[in-house]
Amino acid sequence: MAGAPYKRIVKNTPVATLPDTHKQSVIQYYDTHPINEEQILIKLRARGDDLSALTQDQLKDFDQDHYGGVQAVDELARLARIGAQHRVLDVCSGMGGPARWLAHSTGCRVTGLDFTLSRVEAARRLTQMTKLDARVDFVQGDATQMPLPDAAFDAAISQEAWLHIPDKGAVLSECARVLKRGGVLAFTDVVVRQPLSAHEHERMANGQRAPDMATLERYRELLAANRFVVESTEDLSARWTAILIDRLAMYRSLRDTTVAKFGEARYIEWDSVYSLFVGLFEAAKLGGVRVRARAPA
Ligand SMILES: C[S@@+](CC[C@H](N)C(=O)[O-])C[C@H]1O[C@@H](n2cnc3c(N)ncnc32)[C@H](O)[C@@H]1O
Repeated sequence: MAGAPYKRIVKNTPVATLPDTHKQSVIQYYDTHPINEEQILIKLRARGDDLSALTQDQLKDFDQDHYGGVQAVDELARLARIGAQHRVLDVCSGMGGPARWLAHSTGCRVTGLDFTLSRVEAARRLTQMTKLDARVDFVQGDATQMPLPDAAFDAAISQEAWLHIPDKGAVLSECARVLKRGGVLAFTDVVVRQPLSAHEHERMANGQRAPDMATLERYRELLAANRFVVESTEDLSARWTAILIDRLAMYRSLRDTTVAKFGEARYIEWDSVYSLFVGLFEAAKLGGVRVRARAPA
């Protein structure tokens, strides 16, 4: 793809046509998420940044919605050996923080895919503000039915999103379809390390919108079923537990703006579910993995 003209893939899947109530509940969760575009702009202004000349180096401190910030994106990029010549898909791209950082730091071209329209629109605005829109675009759509052409990408990444998707096999099948032959898939996700109690399972399913989190073994089975060759796996559980404890404190520090924007009840529900989520990491029932796999050659 090096040097080829950049063809944009602009397609939207109207959210109203998505039938599944779980999908609607994930979208509602991200529509009322404490980390959002308005919150990011408040933080940038508070730091004294000039929003009319915003750079990704400034934005990166606030726009990453996964564990470990841009360092974690850099690690995935190294793992996938992403370079300026590559076209990359970010599956479940949120407000586009990782997509922008990848394009900014490696010179590659990135398409972000996410089904939450508020996230996709925020991603597009933030990308225009940082003048990265010539190399980064966003498509609204479901990761289990990607509105993207076959064999379009050299690499696909994803961070902390597939816990929300019950049919992980469908996501992997779609990744295999849209990757070029032998393309690299590099992702991180939350995994189950020990069985959850019925109560914990119910709270993760309905509160955290994570109804069917996989074990690493389940991921291995699904990757093999979709003809991916797993080239490496890494246990991130200890690192993520420390990060999540800090993240809970960060969400609590946003209490006033979260209550002002989404109401007290949403804040209380958020805090209750997130505290349990962090507690499950501390109890070694949940953990994190990073996986590199290669699509069929
Ligand atoms: C924790 S955020 C991660 C965002 C981004 N990866 C980042 O690191 O900043 C998870 C994202 O997954 C998206 N998502 C969840 N299920 C999805 C699906 N089936 N299809 C597309 N996007 C989905 C949500 O809308 C949300 O933006």
